[in-house]
Amino acid sequence: MSAGWSIYVIALIILNVAGCVWLLWRTSSLRPGDPAPDQTGHVWDEDLTEYNKPLPRWWINLFYLTIVFSIGYFIVYPGFGSFAGTKGWTSVGEHDADAADARAVLDATFARFAGKPIDEIAKDPEAIRLGRKIFANTCTTCHGSDAKGARGFPNLTDADWQWGGSPDDILSTVLNGRQAVMPPFGDVVGGAKGAGEVAVYVQSLSGQRVDAAMAAAGKPKFEMVCSACHGMEGKGNPLLGAPNLSDEVWLYGSDFGTIRDAVLEGHNGTMPAHEPIIGETRARVVAAWVWSQSHGGAVQ
Ligand code: HEC
Ligand code: HEC
Repeated sequence: MSAGWSIYVIALIILNVAGCVWLLWRTSSLRPGDPAPDQTGHVWDEDLTEYNKPLPRWWINLFYLTIVFSIGYFIVYPGFGSFAGTKGWTSVGEHDADAADARAVLDATFARFAGKPIDEIAKDPEAIRLGRKIFANTCTTCHGSDAKGARGFPNLTDADWQWGGSPDDILSTVLNGRQAVMPPFGDVVGGAKGAGEVAVYVQSLSGQRVDAAMAAAGKPKFEMVCSACHGMEGKGNPLLGAPNLSDEVWLYGSDFGTIRDAVLEGHNGTMPAHEPIIGETRARVVAAWVWSQSHGGAVQ
């Protein structure tokens, strides 16, 4: 706060507090010529007199007390311009202290899972319960409340893993995130026509009924361009996050147009790194829950 604003605020405070004192004093004291304290001076029909019941003295003194309180408050707490108050209290400081307390409680709850492999953690029903809660708070916006995903967001409950389904793979996905890189290949495969042919060949890999001539035209293109990441038989490569194209599970869709667009436009699915968001140990616990869902999932 600049000095100018500080002086302005201080002036407003003094004016207000002094104003309150003056108002209180003036309205509670009698002036010469005023009617007696228990009368207003109003008379109707010659003998009907209106009475006034003044506030009791203790009540008025309470008002004075609130003013004294406000002065004490301005001495102890910040508020009087840029004066910080003798107690040194700040809202940021209070928030930080509360957050540190909450973190300490969390750390104590999760301490026993620190550094453990996630398949080990998954044996603990308490961990599974906690993991499901973390998932509900952190992951459902993208993966759905049942973890079954949606278009572009993988199903985490099945046996199909784009980035690998071992405990270490899943943990690494959650901690560090994943960035899929499938560049557009329209120019390489011969424009929209070539992309169509290779898309038809991709459909044939998963056993869809397709135009054999188109598929035959797409095959050499697939083997030349796409196999580098998806493999000769289209079975994918978890190291690159290149999905298996020969199964029933699709991240974006298995229809002709969707696959052709994948070739023409590419895909860059991003799973954000969660270690910076929820910390190592809680990432382990939620990864353990994910692992449990696809590996038996008997414990809820
Ligand atoms: C902002 C959206 C978003 C959030 C939040 C998110 N994810 Fe993901 N996640 C994705 C996307 C998108 C992918 C697929 C990335 C790709 O295309 O390769 C993914 C992939 C994954 C995979 C890899 C799946 C596979 O088949 O290999 C796992 C495991 C995973 N997420 C777990 C989690 C967990 C656990 C959380 C919560 C701690 C979480 N995700 C939160 C978007 C998200
Ligand atoms: C540089 C490695 C790379 C090459 C080369 C590559 N892809 Fe991909 N492809 C990927 C990755 C990584 C993904 C996952 C994208 C994502 O998760 O957003 C992907 C995704 C796809 C998908 C979506 C799969 C689904 O489940 O919905 C299709 C279809 C596909 N690729 C087809 C092709 C075809 C056809 C070619 C050759 C023209 C090709 N890819 C070449 C890396 C590659």
